Amino acid sequence: MSEPPGEAAAEQDAREREVLARVLASFADTPDPRMRTVMQSLVRHLHAFLREARITEAEWAQAIAFLTDAGHITDARRQEFVLLSDVLGASMQTITINHPAVAAATEATVLGPFFVQGSPHVELGGDIAFGAPGEPCWVQGQVLDTAGRPVPGARLEVWEADDDGLYDVQREGDRLSARAHLFADAEGRYRFWALTPTPYPIPHDGPVGRLLAATARSPMRAPHLHFKVAAPGCRELITHIFVDGDPLLGSDAVFGVRESLIKRFERQAPGTPAPDGRPLGDAAWSRVRFDVVLAPAGR
Ligand code: BEZ
Ligand code: FE
Repeated sequence: MSEPPGEAAAEQDAREREVLARVLASFADTPDPRMRTVMQSLVRHLHAFLREARITEAEWAQAIAFLTDAGHITDARRQEFVLLSDVLGASMQTITINHPAVAAATEATVLGPFFVQGSPHVELGGDIAFGAPGEPCWVQGQVLDTAGRPVPGARLEVWEADDDGLYDVQREGDRLSARAHLFADAEGRYRFWALTPTPYPIPHDGPVGRLLAATARSPMRAPHLHFKVAAPGCRELITHIFVDGDPLLGSDAVFGVRESLIKRFERQAPGTPAPDGRPLGDAAWSRVRFDVVLAPAGR
């Protein structure tokens, strides 16, 4: 006599729960309580995912092959697991959780894989392009604390892709360009020449690129200029500014766009005099203002 379907379903549910209970119990004696919490939460959510999506054995093998490919393509210059975290929104969610809103403090966004230590120093008003191709962009602003007081001498690291959509570290050789650091003046004011940001794809010639293609998602990032701003007594800020009106703002591949980080890059007609008198010939250029508000350290 065959079992009534309800009974089979109940038995199946009990078996699945029993596997989960045994795995959770295996972590019960983890000495570090935080690690116990994290591992048990991970197991609960992983098993919920497997059970809800009714993952087949072939699909699980495919997932493991995907992670194996991500491992094989990862080296000192290419980090496929960070890209995976980025396109799943996990990087942005972790940042959001760990940078709680503080008054008017500037919002944080993803670091990305192209920050490097040891960028060249430029004086205030200097040019970070170092020969990288692109339209000149005058960037200026003031670094303030959440009470509106200037933060003197703040250190700003800035970096961006060039007009070909490439960061210096993606090119042959080790010449640094389109990146620099500078220090704000005694009133927290800063200014420098950069390149008007242009769109570029995240590296998409590996497993993460295949995932994006299979899910009809674009690898393109909305045009942006990266900032890392630090000053004593303030929470370090890692962020970008985005170009107002750009069509990619709504579909950024790594979910990095925040409304408050969208800035007006004002296009200047060829021949418009530069703010510092720099001779630009008949080149078009742009300008943007970005005031940075740093939260107090420890917030
Ligand atoms: C970037 O903005 O440089 C970036 C961020 C996430 C993934 C790839 C690139
Ligand atoms: Fe970038």
